[in-house]
Amino acid sequence: MASEFIPFNRPYITGKEQANIELALKGHHLSGDGPFTRRCHQWLGQHTGSARVLLTHSCTSALDLAAILLDLKSGDEVIMPSFTFVSTANAFVLRGAIPVFVDIREDTLNLDEGQIEAAITSRTRAIAPVHYAGVSCEMDPIVAIAKRHGLRIVEDAAQGILASYNGTPLGSIGDFGCLSFHETKNIISGEGGALLVNDPSLGLRAEIIREKGTDRGRFFRGRSTNTPGRTSVRRFCRAI
Ligand SMILES: Cc1ncc(COP(=O)(O)O)c(C=O)c1O
Repeated sequence: MASEFIPFNRPYITGKEQANIELALKGHHLSGDGPFTRRCHQWLGQHTGSARVLLTHSCTSALDLAAILLDLKSGDEVIMPSFTFVSTANAFVLRGAIPVFVDIREDTLNLDEGQIEAAITSRTRAIAPVHYAGVSCEMDPIVAIAKRHGLRIVEDAAQGILASYNGTPLGSIGDFGCLSFHETKNIISGEGGALLVNDPSLGLRAEIIREKGTDRGRFFRGRSTNTPGRTSVRRFCRAI
């Protein structure tokens, strides 16, 4: 019997998926960071201009990484729109921070940039604009506010791949951008995401945190003599 419901989404399939899965199987590399990850990093770097791209298991994981990289302390505040997916808030709440919800604009359903400054306190550390449905937030005023108050910006660009603001790709404007490749999005991998690290000085630290506190990435590039996964606790603490 035909379903009476209009499906929420239909995953977009290019037709090359099975052949590529077979290639991965033949290459005996089924975990991440193999040839396909490298191609994704390269493609995303080219299309976003971001200093460092790190594939993640989801946009939720990318937001978690960004929250760790912000080095938030309990009671710190992060400003975000009152209308978003739970992961935007959860990432910061899990680090002990307080989400400060600011109302959205009627026309774009995005964070109302005109209401941000009134929400800033001495505890505010970051702003997390969400580009709802790939429609850009007004980033120029948001960046200006962040600069004025010394705040970091984490763009939740889960829905915003290949969309732009005044010609700049979404996710590459703030300090960090978080993308989703969940099957409901425009480019998909079933579940998946990416962290765009736009501040080059944070690239290595982001890589170490993604590698569970080890310098595995550098080891495989031949830059470290540590055995991956054996990084001492002291080095781990310094890294994060
Ligand atoms: C705005 C927003 N942020 C974060 C996420 C989480 O993405 P993921 O499912 O890849 O973890 C979503 C997912 O729908 C989203 O819409």
